[in-house]
Amino acid sequence: MSVSVFDPRTVDAAVATPAVTALVEPSAAQAEVSAVKKVFITTQGCQMNVYDSDKMLDVLGDSHGMQVTHNIDEADVLLMNTCSIREKAQEKVFSELGRWRKLKEKRPDLVIGVGGCVASQEGDNIQKRAPYVDMVFGPQTLHRLPELYDQSNEQKDIAPKNRIGTVDVSFPSIEKFDFLPEPKVDGFKAFVSIMEGCSKYCSFCVVPYTRGEELSRPLDDVLAEIDTLAEQGVREINLLGQNVNGYRGEKDDGSICRFAELLHYVSHVDGVERIRYTTSHPLEFTDDIIDAYAQLPQLVSHLHLPVQSGSNAILAAMKRNHTIDVYTTQIDKLKAVRPDIHLSSDFIIGFPGETDADFQDTLQLAKDLNFDHSYSFIYSKRPGTPASELPDDVSFATKKARLAEFQKVIIDSTLQKSHDMVGTTARVLVEQVANRHPDCLIGTADNTRTVMFPYDEDKMDELLGKIVNVRITDFVSPHMVKGELVEVVA
Ligand code: SAH
Ligand code: F3S
Repeated sequence: MSVSVFDPRTVDAAVATPAVTALVEPSAAQAEVSAVKKVFITTQGCQMNVYDSDKMLDVLGDSHGMQVTHNIDEADVLLMNTCSIREKAQEKVFSELGRWRKLKEKRPDLVIGVGGCVASQEGDNIQKRAPYVDMVFGPQTLHRLPELYDQSNEQKDIAPKNRIGTVDVSFPSIEKFDFLPEPKVDGFKAFVSIMEGCSKYCSFCVVPYTRGEELSRPLDDVLAEIDTLAEQGVREINLLGQNVNGYRGEKDDGSICRFAELLHYVSHVDGVERIRYTTSHPLEFTDDIIDAYAQLPQLVSHLHLPVQSGSNAILAAMKRNHTIDVYTTQIDKLKAVRPDIHLSSDFIIGFPGETDADFQDTLQLAKDLNFDHSYSFIYSKRPGTPASELPDDVSFATKKARLAEFQKVIIDSTLQKSHDMVGTTARVLVEQVANRHPDCLIGTADNTRTVMFPYDEDKMDELLGKIVNVRITDFVSPHMVKGELVEVVA
């Protein structure tokens, strides 16, 4: 469940891209194919990292014709896209690298690359601690991967720590996007990065240090990417960034486009029927964004707005720069224009100095707002962040007990929300035939629940990629419901 301590966004997972299939024809073509290098990638962390991993595969495919493989034993290049948001994620990097070292001992030609936020934070320390690592790159330099790869290959016989130019964790403005190949489409949904980095400097968070300050992509670049995706059949666009509502994209005439205006532009792209965004910050959740919910039917009735705590004292210590009152007022205004809005949030439990009263305020907020789902984490001390200097007198046992109590509230409301869907009609983007129930199609509702419904096989092509209304008849699991097709909407 999404509420577990084990954040599903911080799971090591091979990026889901089709596996490489071996060719059977024994011919010249086969000899050529065997020369094709194969890359294996693991991705930790947030949606930004999943997006970045796809881009890493794209650049290596484009420059070196590399193909992705899910079989580590047949890979020529191993990439690890790392996350440092919490200590656990960071610890995993070196234990996994230890396993990769053994592979390299057997196959010295293997090229190992470490990217993402741990790479950004550690820089050449990675190679000091793990000298068998060939390339180190940050989230902003992944487009330089082909050069890093060539440089590593040329200096194969030199110890990695003595090689020149195989570590690049700089923040070279927004140039990355100018070097990325055209986006490739897989299904009816796509992420589009609209900005990089974060300038909010919440006292607990490493992101501003690992991804750099907020930088927005120019408006036309974002719209051109969305156009390309829509032309290839994408119906749902998820605008991606650490704080999308801090978007300040330059327009053609040099003026600045803010996030609400961007939403309007995106809603005008032919073929885009649904818009989501990940993640926004309460500080810049301005009235023009709320107005967009009144004006744009394409904006889904779901908002993920991290609040972190229900206590004003803790919010201040976290340097979130807003109060609970500001947050609940924003939600009330939003509900006035979108009564069916579904909400989710992120919470940190056991921040240094969190008293029982602070925790009770957080519990109460979760009960009052009745979230559709939420992510909650025990506070993790991150080196170099201001909160890591704060005295922390809450025991780990207390933190764990608080988290369990908190997650029970969240699980109960998640369950209740799914049960409450029975008898209502959900707007669903139809995505595919259900793997385990081939007589049903599945898609996603506004509130991110998976919806399954039976279909007439002759009608399949008319339904895939469409927005349909489904009358919900049954609860299946906390994140899945079943229903009957009512009509095609778009
Ligand atoms: N941009 C988002 C947050 C991105 S980080 C925002 O506006 O808040 C994703 C989530 O990780 C955060 O919302 C926070 O709940 C969690 N997180 C970040 N740093 C953390 C830390 N040091 N310990 C525990 N959880 C943390
Ligand atoms: Fe981190 Fe706060 Fe930015 S949680 S990503 S510093 S908004």
